[in-house]
Amino acid sequence: MGRKKRLPGLTVKDGFMRHPFDIENGVQTSGLVHGRNLTTGHPHDQHSTAYYGIAPSVLRKLCARWRKTPLLAPPQDYSFIDIGAGMGRGMLIAAQMPFREVIGVEIHPELAAIAQQNIDRWAASGRSRCPMRIACQEVTTFQFPPHPCVAYMFNPFREPVLRALFDHVAEEFARRPGQLDILYANDELADTFAAYPGWAEIWRGKVPLSDEDEAADKAILEHQADGEYGWSTDEPCAIYRWIGNPPRRRAA
Ligand SMILES: C[S@@+](CC[C@H](N)C(=O)[O-])C[C@H]1O[C@@H](n2cnc3c(N)ncnc32)[C@H](O)[C@@H]1O
Repeated sequence: MGRKKRLPGLTVKDGFMRHPFDIENGVQTSGLVHGRNLTTGHPHDQHSTAYYGIAPSVLRKLCARWRKTPLLAPPQDYSFIDIGAGMGRGMLIAAQMPFREVIGVEIHPELAAIAQQNIDRWAASGRSRCPMRIACQEVTTFQFPPHPCVAYMFNPFREPVLRALFDHVAEEFARRPGQLDILYANDELADTFAAYPGWAEIWRGKVPLSDEDEAADKAILEHQADGEYGWSTDEPCAIYRWIGNPPRRRAA
């Protein structure tokens, strides 16, 4: 039987390089796969940006920033949900913090399978402080847990999917104002949040990458076969809280 062909962007020929996070931790989260190569047959595929793992220092700092905001409950009561979890790098980092659970939602089966292997390794090596699971599904069908939730996204999709996700959130959290926060890294669609009633922006700013992460992204992204993506010393990020739609006034 022949070897299964790797996704474009995960072979040396395509400029693949391992991130230090993988080398240090014995996991597989490296690589850059363009959205056009992440087809699953779902109509939302056309709006997928890319697979690329978050700079670990950025997610750790963003979570620390979130913990300083006025929370509904202690952080350990929150479910952490990685929207567009890819190979699970964000999940592995979050699971080192005391959340109730860490859930990844990933549409692409091959990436979700790699995330599952990484989760198993993380749990077996004792690095996880909370239960973890990956849900291989499209995010607008995901049923959020019945606890306070903090979701995180690393710019996974374009506007049509973000708006569809907001409609889904508006239904799921209709009677749960304040129970969903979103940590948005590389917040290209901040204007879409601003235009949708129900979101309060509670923080916005640039999160600097650690020197190690900056050097890694620079080396990896300068090595891309087609040079489509640039690297940066900091990541524009925002934190939003679902406060709910105001009740409609009755006509007099
Ligand atoms: C930038 S990568 C995510 C990296 C990961 N969150 C991390 O922190 O390392 C974006 C991921 O979102 C996934 N994705 C895109 N559209 C999606 C959708 N509609 N539902 C679920 N996952 C989606 C892609 O397959 C891709 O793996």
